[in-house]
Amino acid sequence: MGSTDTGVECGGGHSFDRARGGHLTLLGSRGRRFPGDSAEQLAARERVLSHGLFDGVADALVGVATDAVGVAERPVVLDAGAGTGFYLDRVIGALRPPSPAGGDATDGPGEPLGIGTELSVAAARRLARVNPLVTALVVDTWDGLPLVDECVDLVQVVFAPRNPSEFARVLRKGGTLVVAVPGPGHLEPLRTQAGMLAPAADKAERLDTHLAAGFEPGPVRVVDVTATVPAAIAADLALMGPSGVHLDRAGVEQVVGTVDSPVRVHVEVRSFRRSLQE
Ligand SMILES: C[S@@+](CC[C@H](N)C(=O)[O-])C[C@H]1O[C@@H](n2cnc3c(N)ncnc32)[C@H](O)[C@@H]1O
Repeated sequence: MGSTDTGVECGGGHSFDRARGGHLTLLGSRGRRFPGDSAEQLAARERVLSHGLFDGVADALVGVATDAVGVAERPVVLDAGAGTGFYLDRVIGALRPPSPAGGDATDGPGEPLGIGTELSVAAARRLARVNPLVTALVVDTWDGLPLVDECVDLVQVVFAPRNPSEFARVLRKGGTLVVAVPGPGHLEPLRTQAGMLAPAADKAERLDTHLAAGFEPGPVRVVDVTATVPAAIAADLALMGPSGVHLDRAGVEQVVGTVDSPVRVHVEVRSFRRSLQE
């Protein structure tokens, strides 16, 4: 696939224009069946992430990335369902080689390349701005990824849909898949009080089973912190995720009240190695 300032062209002669927001739309033939996260959900997530509540998750992902691809020449990192690009930006920043002159060149040797995919156009617009080393693509993870086989060193998926066979296809052999899933205590007691969706109790085991073909399970890092957050951040926490679709802000604000309250961030960051055999 060739690339120009205005878009890309594939080997079959099809061209795809870059939108004014900076992203490329590469949806498959089935088009978009679900819009992905709304601008309101993304704005709520941005406020929560800038509050620092999920910095432990970002640190865990950076730890996995630097262990996994620290020595790769120009490592390629794919974040599937990347949302605002918060985690991809942190990981790409950590993988950049030190600049001898303290400059900020973005295409020097060894610079990482980030690919953020999203179903939501509002998210893709944010992704296109998050870091000059990141390319933002509007893609449905379940329809497949518009990438050639074995071109990615690290795939990360944070609270987002998974397509194990596609992840296995695009990862080079020996590459790393890292998946962050909510633990059983995640966002309590807010989750129960606000009537948010509960994570599946067997989420971790189901993840191992789904990835059994093509991956070997690696280390698990558990982030488990309880922090006191302002009521406005608690409301954003309830509204930024899948529960945001069926909860209304006024109802949530009534539940969280006006005083600061403790909330638990309980997340499992699970790594898998792409098998060396098929
Ligand atoms: C809970 S959010 C997590 C976002 C980001 N990974 C984070 O943790 O900040 C899930 C994201 O997946 C995106 N998404 C949902 N279904 C998708 C699909 N089929 N393909 C690609 N992205 C999808 C949503 O638009 C949303 O931004």
